[in-house]
Amino acid sequence: MSDSTESGDTPASAEPLAPQPSALAFRDWHFSVDQEGIGWAIFDREGQSANALGTRPLEELGKIVDWAEEGARRRTMSGLVILSGKDKGFIVGADINEFDGFETEAQVIDRLRHVLALFDRIERLAIPVVAGIHGVCVGGGLELVLACHYRIATRDEGTRVGFPEVKLGIFPGWHGTARSIRQAGPIAAMQAMLTGSMISASRARAMGLIDELVASRSALRWAARKAVLRKRKAKPAGLTKSLLTRWPARALLAKKMRDETKKKAREAHYPAPFRLIDLFELHGGDLEALKAAETRYFAPLLISEQSRNLRRVFKLSELLKSQAPKDTGWKPVRVHVIGAGTMGADIAGWCVASGMEVTLQDLSPEVIDKGIKAQSKLFSRKFKTKAQKAAARARLIADPQGVGAGHADVIIEAIVERLDIKQKLFADLEGKIKPGAILATNTSSLEIEAIAAPLKDPGRLIGLHFFNPVALMPLVEVVRGAGSREEDVKKGATFVTAIGKFPIITKSVPGFLVNRILVPYMMSAMARLEKGEEKEKIDEAARTFGMPMGPIELADTVGLDVCAHVGRTFGLTPDGSLLQRLVESKKLGKKTGEGFYVWKDGKPDKGDKAYPATELERLGRELVEPLIQESERVRDEHIVESADLVDAGVIFGTGFAPFRGGPLHFKASEQKQNAALAAAE
Ligand code: NAI
Repeated sequence: MSDSTESGDTPASAEPLAPQPSALAFRDWHFSVDQEGIGWAIFDREGQSANALGTRPLEELGKIVDWAEEGARRRTMSGLVILSGKDKGFIVGADINEFDGFETEAQVIDRLRHVLALFDRIERLAIPVVAGIHGVCVGGGLELVLACHYRIATRDEGTRVGFPEVKLGIFPGWHGTARSIRQAGPIAAMQAMLTGSMISASRARAMGLIDELVASRSALRWAARKAVLRKRKAKPAGLTKSLLTRWPARALLAKKMRDETKKKAREAHYPAPFRLIDLFELHGGDLEALKAAETRYFAPLLISEQSRNLRRVFKLSELLKSQAPKDTGWKPVRVHVIGAGTMGADIAGWCVASGMEVTLQDLSPEVIDKGIKAQSKLFSRKFKTKAQKAAARARLIADPQGVGAGHADVIIEAIVERLDIKQKLFADLEGKIKPGAILATNTSSLEIEAIAAPLKDPGRLIGLHFFNPVALMPLVEVVRGAGSREEDVKKGATFVTAIGKFPIITKSVPGFLVNRILVPYMMSAMARLEKGEEKEKIDEAARTFGMPMGPIELADTVGLDVCAHVGRTFGLTPDGSLLQRLVESKKLGKKTGEGFYVWKDGKPDKGDKAYPATELERLGRELVEPLIQESERVRDEHIVESADLVDAGVIFGTGFAPFRGGPLHFKASEQKQNAALAAAE
């Protein structure tokens, strides 16, 4: 059903037949009615690069709907079309900054009532209402278009829909639950809401969330005009899908969803997906009842501590990105990586997957070859078509002679952790690279200043410290040596955002930010183990607190040789310790099949012991205390610029329980709670 790509702008010169809404002075919308009576509502939020549905845009949309209702009644309007005025996106959702103002469920419900009434009025309009979508349309944006009668989207890669609410500790609250189930059926709709994943336009059309695809943004207006004039209306999900909302199919589905969700998240930590499944199970058979219950289930989640903290994590991710200056005119395209071992090969692969052209250097062509071959898994995951995979493979170039260094915008060294070898490499490189290129080391334990010492211009060197495994870890530390030039540090942050990771600018101190905070936590857990605490109990307690993996399992996963080496840097691996003894007997953890645990099929053998919940809670809190204390020291020593950046680095660098909002934030909330309890006594 795709349409022509001709531009559908209606002639502006013709006399309008319908009254013009000239009296409506909007700041976030442009609204006009053309000579065919079609109202064009174009969302272009003032002063913002993206459209978020906050109070003012919703109020203005309300006035547009008033106008459309009147136009429909007087028959001066034939339809309403909703478009975005932003180049790159439709609607990113509700304005989450406004969520923080809600203290009580009653306040949330009162606010919801206004928006729900507005969306219902849109759905009930007697004239066709069409949404024309290009770019990202998620959360509240998707809920708004689901209240329209017909949805058209551009087919390109950039157009995606989705319900990311669970990531913020909530679920769709503007009747998106009922409307998405109505359009896509319960399996696809619940899957979208429970995972929060982004859905391509073509997949969304197959699901029933989108009704028509067009080739490009310029074709949207024409297609929308046609949809209005032909009074097109989306068809709800077919009978087979809707039968699944009946009892007992619904109960079986809910059970399956609950089992799947439990594998990924604990209810005590992330209640939102579990409440959504309860909502579907109890009310999914009647969409009107589902709508009414949605508000009751939604309100307590929005004001919960978990949701507040998850929203904080989202804002912290924005804060990390903001460390990279925008519009500097510097756009890295070519990267040269030296060292094709564990880290270098994966850094090269990741840069290629992010669209860069990469040359990869090592001492032997065989090592380079092996490093390149190892990237095919990543490319298969990242790219769908054969052509895309082949193009990625062609962008990753074996370069045993290091010719690429002279053309690269970014040079990253990831060779053996030896000061003399790194110094020599950089001294040789200095004369070969182009002016303005950034020169970076991935060292994890050497001083940037010492590596840079033999350079004629030591200010050029910065650290770009990636974490292992590169493809999974979202954070990269951008290390500012004592003499590093500020401009190059900022460029480092720009490069990190260009490859889709979060940069954190840190001072050059042992362990930088993340390892410095992680090491005392892991070493103190190992000390407990030596004193007789069971490793399984330690790991379960850390997970009960909300860590993604316990510290003992983490040590085995990282490799006990690496842990012992890093621990020694901090003077925290005593001779004769259990860790040291395991390393000496070549029991290095997961990679050798045995460390603290015996590993089978990539999993540690933990048996099936259970421990009392209160003990796990107490121990979990004690385990993270060294991590919290080190975070406080790092804040006080200004290793990064602010307390929020400490929290951001620890969450994205170690996986510290996101729903607790970061170690410093958690400590402050705990103190507040204790003070409130003491006052109440
Ligand atoms: P690796 O031993 O796996 O790889 C190092 C590679 O560098 C080897 O393939 C070696 O042939 C090559 N190499 C050595 N000297 C060279 C030279 N002069 N020119 C070109 N290639 C040379 O080491 P890995 O683990 O990849 O570590 C590399 C760097 O990354 C180190 O500085 C390490 O501290 C750091 N790092 C390591 C992490 C890890 O988890 N392995 C995490 C973060 C940083």
